[in-house]
Amino acid sequence: MNAPGTRRPEPVRAPEKTQVWEEDMQIAERRIPNLVSALPGPKAKEIIERDRKVVSPSYTRDYPLVAKSGRGAMVEDVDGNTFLDFAAGIAVVATGHCHPQVVAAVQRQASELLHMSGTDFYYPGLVELAEKLASIAPGKGPKRVYFGNSGTEAIEAAMKLARYHTRRDKFIAFYGCFHGRTFGSLSLTASKAVQRKHFGPLLGGVFHAPYPDTYRGAYGIRPDRAAADALAYIENELFKRIVDPEDVAAVFIEAIQGEGGYIAAPAEFLQGLERLCRRHGILLVADEVQSGMGRTGKWWAAEHSEIEPDIVCTAKGIASGLPLSAAIAKADLMDWKPGAHASTFGGNPVAIAASLATIRLLEGGIMANAARMGELILLQTAGWRERHKTVGDIRGRGLMIGIEFVRDQKTKERAPELRNRIIQAAFERGLLVLGAGENTLRLCPPLVIDEEQAEFAVHTLDACISEAERSL
Ligand SMILES: Cc1ncc(COP(=O)(O)O)c(C=O)c1O
Repeated sequence: MNAPGTRRPEPVRAPEKTQVWEEDMQIAERRIPNLVSALPGPKAKEIIERDRKVVSPSYTRDYPLVAKSGRGAMVEDVDGNTFLDFAAGIAVVATGHCHPQVVAAVQRQASELLHMSGTDFYYPGLVELAEKLASIAPGKGPKRVYFGNSGTEAIEAAMKLARYHTRRDKFIAFYGCFHGRTFGSLSLTASKAVQRKHFGPLLGGVFHAPYPDTYRGAYGIRPDRAAADALAYIENELFKRIVDPEDVAAVFIEAIQGEGGYIAAPAEFLQGLERLCRRHGILLVADEVQSGMGRTGKWWAAEHSEIEPDIVCTAKGIASGLPLSAAIAKADLMDWKPGAHASTFGGNPVAIAASLATIRLLEGGIMANAARMGELILLQTAGWRERHKTVGDIRGRGLMIGIEFVRDQKTKERAPELRNRIIQAAFERGLLVLGAGENTLRLCPPLVIDEEQAEFAVHTLDACISEAERSL
């Protein structure tokens, strides 16, 4: 948990504005929501009705937003309502919707070369992005990069690489963590039973350990001793009774759980886990699919604990909305032979152009903005536990902030219905937010939000919580 500071943050420096930006940001000029119809409006209703008949019912839609366009942190729906987006397409549009420099890079690349397949041919962008990712990955040593299209593909690559390199076949993951939905990554995922139901048997040889939750604890983990207890479980239970550490290829961990509820593992735990892995020749894999690419105010959540994972998996924010992922490994362990693993579309030239533009923007001030805006939000919500009896915990780093709702602050009984009601109420006021875990509301806006937007979101949520509490 990140205790909010007492200092007011530095004044916010807006992201670099180009002429295209100025001309193209009419919607963003409207920096706060403007609702012009009932929700959903007539056009939205019609599309939802059509969607219901033909689109997979496995998707979870919390509220009826039918998006038409987006600029910066604003989204306009098909009926002309504008919303402030604190969900960012599930923590994806890092530089905001349709950042003009990202759009320009995409347009340029699309007119030059749409596809080539980096698995069989060379192109400059693929090398340039690999060099860039290798340079920003934690640790100074050389790295190699494998490209995929989605978070789950980066995880699958890391699982296969870990087996290939170590010639071991077992994995350790953590309760509450989410790593994806394909069979390999789903075997690591231990977030919600519905994600696994009817899909077994999953991959054998995957063992789960309790995550060091410093607010709630669980499975015998004491909140005030979470790091030590969670490490002891691995050493004294898993390694003594269930699996010999010499059989374990890799440990997969989210330094900050995303889908599980925006829970940060304490630095002592991550450092202890790194030592444990080194001692037993186990690879440490950081799943930074949600927490990476500047969202926490640093490139990677792992950096806050100064650990150096052997493999870092990233996706979501890497290309501001284009499908791309990467598994970045220490160079000497990416020793698989030609043909061992590849993907036709992984590292598509257009997605890579978007990613290079995204990284330039993140370096140019947007990542620093995420740190400042996160600090501002934590400062402005610091008194909420005292003012709101249903707010159990507020925690976060940068713009990865979770608010956990409880029925009782002492017993910490979870309040999922209340959380859901608040999400719905925020939507009705033009603020888009998402849940995470059973009873947490997550704030994961584009990293370009400004002070006015941060304050609008805080005040709107404050009002929604008060309203929901009155109805208890
Ligand atoms: C931490 C983490 N890992 C992996 C994934 C899977 O990513 P994708 O949905 O792109 O396959 C997600 C998606 O939410 C995630 O949050």
